[in-house]
Amino acid sequence: MIYPIVKYGDPVLENPAEIVTEFDTPELHKLLEDMFESMYAAKGVGLAAPQIGIGRRIAVIDCSVGEDPAQKIVLINPEIIKTEGKQRGEEGCLSIPGFREDVSRARRVTVRAQNARGEKFEMTGEDILARAFLHETDHLFGRLYITHVSPLKRDLIRRKVKKLMKAGEWS
Ligand code: NI
Repeated sequence: MIYPIVKYGDPVLENPAEIVTEFDTPELHKLLEDMFESMYAAKGVGLAAPQIGIGRRIAVIDCSVGEDPAQKIVLINPEIIKTEGKQRGEEGCLSIPGFREDVSRARRVTVRAQNARGEKFEMTGEDILARAFLHETDHLFGRLYITHVSPLKRDLIRRKVKKLMKAGEWS
């Protein structure tokens, strides 16, 4: 099932999501399948559960956008345990469509998380994957990437989004 993507302005995106305590359930497997499907439909490389209105600490990532099944990553209850170096590059979010901003992030990032069966693992990613780990983990703590841009740029985005809302072009 393809879920509609929740847009910036909905409180679910800015509230910390709840920890997952039940694993390997048919419901969880179905949700993960739906999250990948919804992410591919939206042509994203990452999707966090709050972005489909579900406030649970679950994210999916696929930097190949569906081209390579080996690149599918499920992060449940993720936490960033190590960051190294720096990268600067454009970042966007499916929940803030039409906007992209330069965001400074660590270049190499290690995440600790659980998989669908509840098994703990650690994974290190560089470049785009490092960025995705940070961006998606942020989502699960109620933080959007625009919290990492200057207050001036953030205000500009907020104003533009408000205009789009008024015009009925943001839902
Ligand atoms: Ni996002």
